[in-house]
Amino acid sequence: MRSYSLIAPAKINLYLEILGDRPDGYHELVMVMQSVDLADRVDLRSNSTETMRVHCDHPLVPNDTSNLAYRAAYLMSQQFPQAFAQLGAVDITIHKQIPVGAGLAGGSTNAAAVLMGLNLLWELGLTQPEIQELGAQLGSDVPFCVAGGTALATGRGEKLDTLPDLDKLHVVLAKYRSLSVSTPWAYQTYRQQFESSYLRETTAQVNRRREVHSGAMLSAIAHRDSTQIGQLLHNDLEKVVLPHHPKVAELQKRFRESQPLGTMMSGSGPTVFALTHTQAEAQQLSDQMRSAIADPDLELWVAQFSHCGIHIAQ
Ligand code: C5P
Repeated sequence: MRSYSLIAPAKINLYLEILGDRPDGYHELVMVMQSVDLADRVDLRSNSTETMRVHCDHPLVPNDTSNLAYRAAYLMSQQFPQAFAQLGAVDITIHKQIPVGAGLAGGSTNAAAVLMGLNLLWELGLTQPEIQELGAQLGSDVPFCVAGGTALATGRGEKLDTLPDLDKLHVVLAKYRSLSVSTPWAYQTYRQQFESSYLRETTAQVNRRREVHSGAMLSAIAHRDSTQIGQLLHNDLEKVVLPHHPKVAELQKRFRESQPLGTMMSGSGPTVFALTHTQAEAQQLSDQMRSAIADPDLELWVAQFSHCGIHIAQ
């Protein structure tokens, strides 16, 4: 095969707790990640040159070496020089559906697709854990994006424990088009404000991780208790992003008025999501938001939980 088209799903965080600092400057996290079927398509085509090229039609996505998808391709060329020399570089075309700078891992899932795609194109035969290990060099969310589904993510976010597939709940995603949040900014601001509450000792972090592991959210997931899952949504980064962006807090307040299963900001935001049992409820909620907030800058999507990570387009 000289080309592959891959589907690269977005993720939401059902749970995000910041435990403390790490020696590498990142934060020690406990997260529950969930794939949704809002997805980009990433096309890889051999270009018979030595130059990896990336193209995306979205104005906010760079078409240069700073694009995480490009960096994924470059990493593969460095790791597998023989395959690169024999089979050459690729043109990467990203068809964007996932909003950018949104807390939905759009960049990470594109990078994950490039790793998976080059593994196929160059017939490297890498296992999923091997691809995830490479992904961790690119970004904390990339390993999750490779596998998708529902997972507990610890460490920087790169250590994954697969959780049972949930029923395919429906989700409404809301984001102001012109608003994006820088992930480093969100974590730095959190550190400035909450560092005094960080767990300093490794044992305290290990114990807290264990508590979350045997705690209410994981139990609700094990029992596929959607009502409980909705009530237990949690994201520490809301504490810094919502006060800084009152419009985002307002989205959550509006969602709450319609009593969905639950509502929360995803990752470092500013996307806010709400969960419902059915597609009809999600569509109705989206329509209600559209009429409640008459701002053309507001974008809404109706999606569904997905059990898939990166996969080949049909
Ligand atoms: O790993 P990734 O490149 O996606 O992280 C983006 C930024 O988010 C990091 O530069 C860091 O500032 C912050 N971050 C963090 N702790 C994590 C993950 C991300 O502080 N576990």
